[in-house]
Amino acid sequence: MTGASSGIGEATARELASRGASVVVAARDAEKLEALVGEVSASGGLAIFAKTDVTDRESVEAMVGRTVEEFGALDILVNNAGLGLSGRVSELRPEDLRYVFEVNTVGPLNCIQAALPRMGRGGRIVNVSSVVGKRAIPKVGGYCASKFALNALSDALRVELAKGGVSVTSVYPGTTRTSFRENSRRTRDEKRGWRPKGVTPERVAASIADAAEKGPRDVYVTLADRLFVAGVTLLPGLADRALRSWAKD
Ligand SMILES: NC(=O)c1ccc[n+]([C@@H]2O[C@H](COP(=O)([O-])OP(=O)(O)OC[C@H]3O[C@@H](n4cnc5c(N)ncnc54)[C@H](OP(=O)(O)O)[C@@H]3O)[C@@H](O)[C@H]2O)c1
Repeated sequence: MTGASSGIGEATARELASRGASVVVAARDAEKLEALVGEVSASGGLAIFAKTDVTDRESVEAMVGRTVEEFGALDILVNNAGLGLSGRVSELRPEDLRYVFEVNTVGPLNCIQAALPRMGRGGRIVNVSSVVGKRAIPKVGGYCASKFALNALSDALRVELAKGGVSVTSVYPGTTRTSFRENSRRTRDEKRGWRPKGVTPERVAASIADAAEKGPRDVYVTLADRLFVAGVTLLPGLADRALRSWAKD
């Protein structure tokens, strides 16, 4: 479970442990991970932590190695670690865009490539994308692009692995009440525009844990998210016009 030191990942680790999974919590902040492991253990769950930077292949290999060493198998990979980036496309710094792709797209790829050789039939890969990975919105185009790219990897991989019995799920959360926005990279001092109130990370965690159990193709957390994606797919020009107000400063 990557990105488990905060927000959606932290809530998902708790949820998976409460459903009886043995969980490896991975992220860079070891102190937060250690505290989470203590909490899970105190409530009767089983968890260990692995300090991991998903952009670093060696670090990811070590996480997978430790998982197999401790638990004897690796059944589910949840690629949740992620980083936001705000800024108009005309102003994005290429180095910021590259780094956000390293975390949001190459990071999951590193984890998938390290985990797959250890996964047998019935294995599950769950990639946490976003509704804005289905329709890019103004002032976060770089972040959206990284999630579109992740979806592409998920779609190709799902078909490639179908015969081997490993499922690949894309989860598309909408706004979720975590520290994501505060943790995001910013291009300039962009104004934080309106965004929906959003759902709790626990609600997203329940959807991710269901996906880890059943391995569906796509997961939307709320009906509103599903309707948003259906609407913008059916009426892209209207969506452009509706989104113009978000492009204002
Ligand atoms: N919040 C939303 O509105 C929203 C909506 C749709 C999708 N999402 C997606 O949901 C996922 C979780 O986001 P969140 O809302 O829970 O945000 P968050 O609270 O900022 O958590 C992000 C997590 O990713 C980890 N992370 C960042 N860079 C990493 C790296 N290089 N290596 C390993 N771990 C790294 C962070 O841990 P460390 O800093 O300790 O490494 C942290 O645990 C992300 O993929 C995000 O794109 C969020």
